[in-house]
Amino acid sequence: MQDYTQAVKEFVEEHYTGVTFVLVTGVGLFALRRWLAGGVCHSKARLDGKTVLITGANTGIGKETAVDMAKRGARVILACRDMGRANKAADEIRKRSGNGNVVVKMLDLASLNSVRALAKDVHQTEDRLDILINNAGIMMCPPWKTEDGFEMQFGVNHLGHFLLTNLLLDLLKKSTPSRIVNVSSLAHESGKIHFDDINLEKNYEMLVSYRQSKLANVLFTRELAARLKGTRVTTYALHPGVIRTELGRHFFPSMPLWKRILVIPFFFFLKTPWQGAQTTIYCAVDESLQNTSGLYYSDCALKEAAPQGRDDAAARRLWDLSASMVGLA
Ligand SMILES: NC(=O)c1ccc[n+]([C@@H]2O[C@H](COP(=O)([O-])OP(=O)(O)OC[C@H]3O[C@@H](n4cnc5c(N)ncnc54)[C@H](OP(=O)(O)O)[C@@H]3O)[C@@H](O)[C@H]2O)c1
Repeated sequence: MQDYTQAVKEFVEEHYTGVTFVLVTGVGLFALRRWLAGGVCHSKARLDGKTVLITGANTGIGKETAVDMAKRGARVILACRDMGRANKAADEIRKRSGNGNVVVKMLDLASLNSVRALAKDVHQTEDRLDILINNAGIMMCPPWKTEDGFEMQFGVNHLGHFLLTNLLLDLLKKSTPSRIVNVSSLAHESGKIHFDDINLEKNYEMLVSYRQSKLANVLFTRELAARLKGTRVTTYALHPGVIRTELGRHFFPSMPLWKRILVIPFFFFLKTPWQGAQTTIYCAVDESLQNTSGLYYSDCALKEAAPQGRDDAAARRLWDLSASMVGLA
């Protein structure tokens, strides 16, 4: 033991600069990682007797959000498109939360029929809905159409959730105070709504499409808040951070190998799904947000959305366009 301590001492004395560099860099990197992990929702709010529906809850931040909602005592509905993955996730969520009241329902946001069928099912089986979390998302896929012929990212990320929310509004109004949480992204900041070519048929670019769909989430949240004023149904949009999930499943494999290798070290700085779920949870339960609606959050704090995300005329125009696309009166 004596020899070992002596050897370490000698090594440190001989390589003083190197050891100091490694230590400072290591501590710095961990501090940076901790800082990038962002805020944590500290609310102890309980959700006993309440019902929460989360779209895309079989993986990623949706699953972590579901675990948290279940731990708070809610009945949690996982609205997912792959029943095998969803049932496996439900088992895990029941186990981790100790709450058996976790159910799975079928929802493919790329099909308006599926959205309508889920809403019908929820009306038949649930007598309340306290929190709707529009979380499911698809990012940077190749050109692709939904069952109804809409561009996939706009169709899934915005139109499917737009219809679902509208079809569940009566139940949310019956369960006030209730909340609608839309998981958007920082990507909305460079987004634009292409009103003259909403399906990007003239010139499809996968990132342009993702940005448009995430800006639509912010504008939808804003217009919904205006329409729900005085009802005690409140709405929230958010950026969850940059998180290690399956969201890159379409574009990551299509990157050249050298680029994939280059980005691997950056994975160390990404949020975990638990960390990525914190702002969604904050918007869903934090007591301080009870009387605010239509705003945008990041790292468990209010953040100003980009100017195009605060454009009320564009929000109304998008609402009208979306309503006509999904066949809502
Ligand atoms: N990860 C990030 O860094 C990041 C950053 C900013 C914003 N976001 C947003 O966070 C949300 C959650 O993403 P995540 O990172 O947790 O990604 P993820 O791990 O890929 O999870 C996405 C979820 O959405 C579901 N989904 C996709 N298409 C669907 C469809 N047509 N119908 C129903 N469900 C569908 C997926 O189901 P399957 O498993 O069956 O495909 C999955 O459950 C998304 O809205 C995303 O835009 C994420």
